[in-house]
Amino acid sequence: MGSFVIRGNLCYCKDCNSISIKPHAYLVCRDGVCAGIFDTLPEQYAALPLTDFGDRLVLPGMTDLHLHAPQFSFRGLGMDMELLDWLNAYTFPEEAKYAGLDYADRAYSQFVSHLRRSVTTRAVCFATVHAPATELLMEKMEQSGLVSYVGKVNMDRNAPDYLCEASAEASLDATEAWICATKERFSRTKPILTPRFIPSCTDGLLRGLRKLAEKYDLPVQSHLSENFGEIAWVGELCPDARFYGDAYDRVGLFGGDHPCVMAHCVHSSDEELELMRKNGVYIAHSPLSNTNLASGVAPVSRYLEGGLRVALASDVAGGETENLLRVMAGAIRASKLRWRLLDQQVKPLTVDQAFYMATLGGGSFFGKVGSFEDGYEFDAVVLDDTTLEHPQELSLRARLERCIYLADERHIAAKFVAGTRLF
Ligand code: GUN
Ligand code: FE
Repeated sequence: MGSFVIRGNLCYCKDCNSISIKPHAYLVCRDGVCAGIFDTLPEQYAALPLTDFGDRLVLPGMTDLHLHAPQFSFRGLGMDMELLDWLNAYTFPEEAKYAGLDYADRAYSQFVSHLRRSVTTRAVCFATVHAPATELLMEKMEQSGLVSYVGKVNMDRNAPDYLCEASAEASLDATEAWICATKERFSRTKPILTPRFIPSCTDGLLRGLRKLAEKYDLPVQSHLSENFGEIAWVGELCPDARFYGDAYDRVGLFGGDHPCVMAHCVHSSDEELELMRKNGVYIAHSPLSNTNLASGVAPVSRYLEGGLRVALASDVAGGETENLLRVMAGAIRASKLRWRLLDQQVKPLTVDQAFYMATLGGGSFFGKVGSFEDGYEFDAVVLDDTTLEHPQELSLRARLERCIYLADERHIAAKFVAGTRLF
């Protein structure tokens, strides 16, 4: 973490409605934190090391609020299925392999090296039920320089024998031991409680996780209202719950006093949404996953306008790529189809809203993250779009829009996380 200055075309959000663009501006980093944007560098910063990125675009680092590290190995497979069949046919057999540390080592090395090269600087990850492999993933994430939460998954019902944990107690004991081993071990990588979803967790397990959230002051992540079959199943499993989210809320795992991420929320009822708004639950919107698995399209602009906390997520391997630029484009595209074909009351997402969700929207889960305004942690990606050829003059805004649709890791010239340059 250092103090230095960079110069380039700065593109960032101050709110969910518009992208600010500062051409050829100086951005000061002091002790890892943004400390000012200037057209002319003030004298007081003249002695700091300066890197001039010329005509390149400088964006805030992006937050992937929900992805499955062990699923990176089968991205792009099984996309002709819906959620529950896909879990049984692809996900559970693959996740079982992480009982072996040799396999986990190879697979997680590949995952982490891809994520490190991507526009993502912060991530909230699912691992598997296996504590040793989850700790190994945390070591690799720490070494990568990225900042993340990583969760050992809990499942004590409705999972195949080869993956299901033996009982709620066994799951909770393994989880507590894993928390104690990892909570203070890393500076950038922290544990997060991870009940997979209501169908795979008994009430006893959920209540035990609530106690662990209190005892160790931990955030929580899970899945919510993704797929019609899943939602109907939750209705059968929890006849007393008023709606899917209530099954988490009645055991104290739905935000409020503990930060909480719920992935998907494609088919959330008004009651469920109102409770999420009240409890500050983050919605991890995963448009690539929701289209690949034919789950549906969440009415995201309505969520944003309603004051909900919405961020973007790749949901690898429901989503086929970790590239959040592609996720942004996917979110916009899906919202247009929803608007055209289903419901003209909910406007399509704008580029600005998608950019907000990928930066400030998700970054706020990590504190002051996702913008270049004063006091924000210095996370940045520098995009070199010179190989995205065009014959005409383009504004900076137009170049940024093109990058959202066309750029990938090959266009990243530099990446900073909390004031440290990774490459
Ligand atoms: N719901 C429960 N588990 C999963 C998973 O691994 N991926 C997705 N997309 N949804 C889930
Ligand atoms: Fe998921």
